[in-house]
Amino acid sequence: MEKKKSKKGLIVIIIVGVILIAAAVFVVYKFTGGAHVGIDNKPEAAPQGSSDMLVVYFSWSGNGQKMARWIAEEKGADIFRIVPADDYGSDYQACADRAKSELDNGTRPELAEHIDKETLDKYDTIYLGFPVWWYDLPMPVWSFLEEYDLSGKTIIPFFSHNGSSDGANSLDRVKELAPNSDVRTDDALSINGNNVANSEDEVKEWAARL
Ligand SMILES: Cc1cc2nc3c(=O)[nH]c(=O)nc-3n(C[C@H](O)[C@H](O)[C@H](O)COP(=O)(O)O)c2cc1C
Repeated sequence: MEKKKSKKGLIVIIIVGVILIAAAVFVVYKFTGGAHVGIDNKPEAAPQGSSDMLVVYFSWSGNGQKMARWIAEEKGADIFRIVPADDYGSDYQACADRAKSELDNGTRPELAEHIDKETLDKYDTIYLGFPVWWYDLPMPVWSFLEEYDLSGKTIIPFFSHNGSSDGANSLDRVKELAPNSDVRTDDALSINGNNVANSEDEVKEWAARL
């Protein structure tokens, strides 16, 4: 009888333990927006126009930055990071609230980094990377696309997400904001943020195929 009781107790403890672990995982995901690899704030080398391809990316938590660096490595392309003058901080909820309000109000955040026009003119192809934010393009990417004239250039989007695997409104938004570019949405690369850390081969194979 005693033995049966202690077995039951053990089962209850295991079930409670599993529930607590699941709850902790849920809370971490909810408050961080999913898995991310961590952003590296070391500035990228300044684009020199040494190749005809430029990788341009915006990334808050590092997933898109990883993808961007793999693409640049694979293609021998220059790289440019879109950096908002007023950064989004490290708190997920504060970032999510600000991003939503910027999208709702059509705010174009000021950017801290710029490329000069002559250098930008040297690139024919732009790989444009971003996370899906609120089912759309993050507003700093709106700022970038509106600041430069990308007419005649090819833009190939790549993005990470936490469920919006088709990019939601973001791909159409790129087309809208770069109306005179050849935006190759059919070739866009989509990777779930939870898988980015293990996607180096997939990203490089995608880049090599283009
Ligand atoms: C403000 C904010 C809004 C987000 N909105 C969406 C969304 O609408 N759909 C989605 O699938 N993921 C959404 N996510 C998750 C990110 O797209 C995902 O975590 C992405 O991999 C982050 O890329 P990054 O590390 O380059 O910033 C959102 C994340 C943040 C921070």
